[in-house]
Amino acid sequence: MGFFSRDINTMDDLFVHTLRDMYYAEKQILQALPDMIDKAADPQLKQGFQTHLGETRNQVKRLEEVFRLHGKEVSGVDCPAIDGIIEEADDVAGEAADKAVLDAALIAAAQAVEHYEISRYGTLVAWAKQLGRNDCAALLQQNLDEEKATDKKLTAMAESNINRRAA
Ligand SMILES: [Fe+2]
Ligand SMILES: [Fe+2]
Repeated sequence: MGFFSRDINTMDDLFVHTLRDMYYAEKQILQALPDMIDKAADPQLKQGFQTHLGETRNQVKRLEEVFRLHGKEVSGVDCPAIDGIIEEADDVAGEAADKAVLDAALIAAAQAVEHYEISRYGTLVAWAKQLGRNDCAALLQQNLDEEKATDKKLTAMAESNINRRAA
C-alpha cells in the first residue's frame, strides 16, 4: 500500500498506516542491530548498540500496546525508507577495513536510523494527540525520547574519540 493510496482517507487511517510503518521499521532494526554489535570495534559503541537493542525490544512492545489501545490489529507495512537506510549501512560498513573508519561508518548509519525514527515518532505523537489518543501519545513519546537520547549518545561518541581516531 503506497503512502497516499486510496486506502488512506482519514487522519485515523494515516495514523494507523504510519504506526504500521514504524512497527515494520522497528522489527527491521531489531534484526540489523546484532550485526552492528558484532562489527563495532569500540567497546563503548558496542555497549551502546547492545543497550539500544534492549530498548528497541521494549519499543516494539509499546507499539503493540498502542495498536491494542486503538483497537487495531498488530501488523506492519513495508517501509522502503528504513530498508534503504539499513541496506546502505551494510554496504558502507562492509567496505571499511580500518576498525576506526568502520566505527565511524556504523555511527553515521545508526544516526540516519535514529533521525528517521525521531521524525516518524514526532509525527505519530502529534497525530495521536490530534485524534484525542493521549494514551497512545504517551507511549509513542517514550519511544521518541529513547530515540533522541540514543541520537545524542551517538553524537557524543562521534565527536569524542571515534571520529578522531579515524582521521
Ligand atoms: Fe526504535
Ligand atoms: Fe532507535
